[in-house]
Amino acid sequence: MARVFVTGSSTGLGLMAGELLVEQGHRVVLHARNQARADDARRALPQAEAVVLGDLSTVAGARSVADEANKLGRFDAVIHNAGVGYREARPTRTVDALPHVFAINVLAPYILTALIERPDRLVYLSSGMHRGANARLDDLTWTRRAWNAAQAYAESKLLDVLIAFAVARRWPDVLSNALEPGWVPTRMGGANAPDDLDQGHRTQVWLAVSDEPEARVTGKYFRYLRQRAPDPQTASFELQDRLIAECGRLSGVALPE
Ligand SMILES: NC(=O)c1ccc[n+]([C@@H]2O[C@H](COP(=O)([O-])OP(=O)(O)OC[C@H]3O[C@@H](n4cnc5c(N)ncnc54)[C@H](OP(=O)(O)O)[C@@H]3O)[C@@H](O)[C@H]2O)c1
Repeated sequence: MARVFVTGSSTGLGLMAGELLVEQGHRVVLHARNQARADDARRALPQAEAVVLGDLSTVAGARSVADEANKLGRFDAVIHNAGVGYREARPTRTVDALPHVFAINVLAPYILTALIERPDRLVYLSSGMHRGANARLDDLTWTRRAWNAAQAYAESKLLDVLIAFAVARRWPDVLSNALEPGWVPTRMGGANAPDDLDQGHRTQVWLAVSDEPEARVTGKYFRYLRQRAPDPQTASFELQDRLIAECGRLSGVALPE
């Protein structure tokens, strides 16, 4: 039995992953942005051990989520699932003056990775949309480019793979992988999403807890329980290292050696 923390688990794939983990006999801590959403999560999955509260759109919020998670004790695995999508017509800026999408999809998982007591496994939700995005390390905060919501989302999901792979290199004692869940009909995916919702949460759960040798790898990218080739940019040690350095600079949180 494993103990797993799932971010952004008040609904969608995060909640579904929590439900499957409980069904498989694991212990699950959920996460929600505020008390009302935590109550929703608790109602949906009363068997969850706890629900951590906190808004991941700010550096302070992400730091607080890490603190609250650490108070509950060490996890065997963390699934970095919380995310926002590709429909922000304008680049909403957070109190840290960062684009909302970057803050939640990239900086928050970086901060949580750095500050939550190191688990055995880390799992990062990417997207098939990451292919074709450019890792614009020179403009992560979208101050030099005209805003493009779909591009900002796709780029954030490319950066998630870079984080997963950078961590895999730095922390050889941790299994750190990324995956795409398919385009599935959650709130983010929308009602017309073509892929099977029932497959959308399985790979992250498998990577978090399975003892199958195929799941006990690190620095890999998956879809539907199978390794897939991610965008070639993700293999660049230079991009990985620059991203970690930039996330450290923007958040003021260093990734421990
Ligand atoms: N659905 C797809 O087709 C698809 C495809 C590729 C990748 N993905 C990835 O899969 C992950 C889950 O997506 P989903 O489809 O399940 O989305 P979803 O149904 O919209 O759920 C997103 C979850 O993240 C939480 N969240 C968002 N912003 C937050 C914040 N600032 N602080 C705390 N929690 C926050 C949401 O909380 P609230 O409910 O309070 O907003 C919700 O629990 C995302 O990383 C997404 O990029 C999804």
